[in-house]
Amino acid sequence: MLSQQIIDCLNQQINLEIYSSHLYLQMSSWCAYKSLEGCATFLSQHADEEMTHMRRLLNYLQETGAFAVIDGMQAPPTDFNSLTEMFEKIYGHEKLVTSKINNLVHLANTEPDYATLQFLQWYVAEQHQEEFLFKSILDKIKLIGTEGQGIFFIDREIANMAANRTQETTAMN
Ligand SMILES: [Fe+2]
Ligand SMILES: [Fe+2]
Repeated sequence: MLSQQIIDCLNQQINLEIYSSHLYLQMSSWCAYKSLEGCATFLSQHADEEMTHMRRLLNYLQETGAFAVIDGMQAPPTDFNSLTEMFEKIYGHEKLVTSKINNLVHLANTEPDYATLQFLQWYVAEQHQEEFLFKSILDKIKLIGTEGQGIFFIDREIANMAANRTQETTAMN
């Protein structure tokens, strides 16, 4: 049995994960439009992953007999000045998601709600991985540079990351 405050915060998190998915799908579309196929594939995969994060939360709420509510979504931004700016936005967004997870952990710990606290551990680890992932992409972009053929090599690097991710997912199934 969850408290109303926990239910409300988990519902907010569900909607934030859906927004994350929409944001990355929109960014994937922007990359495809700019002929950055590697980035487009990578971000499309990532949009799918965000929906799996949402479903994990949805299932948890439903298992406890709580009511999950899907909000109307704010439209994600559609235009970016550069690939660097786009990945900086992603990194900033992931840091925001981490702060929301941290707030939820704090709330579950304070109530205390040990089942939710335990459930949220997966998200704590996942957010660490996501921040690390996007920070490493930004580091690569800085290292390679976007001048001249740089953007081509960055896209190829990110295409490799997407291919590795597909292999990992296939191996897990
Ligand atoms: Fe997520
Ligand atoms: Fe994420």
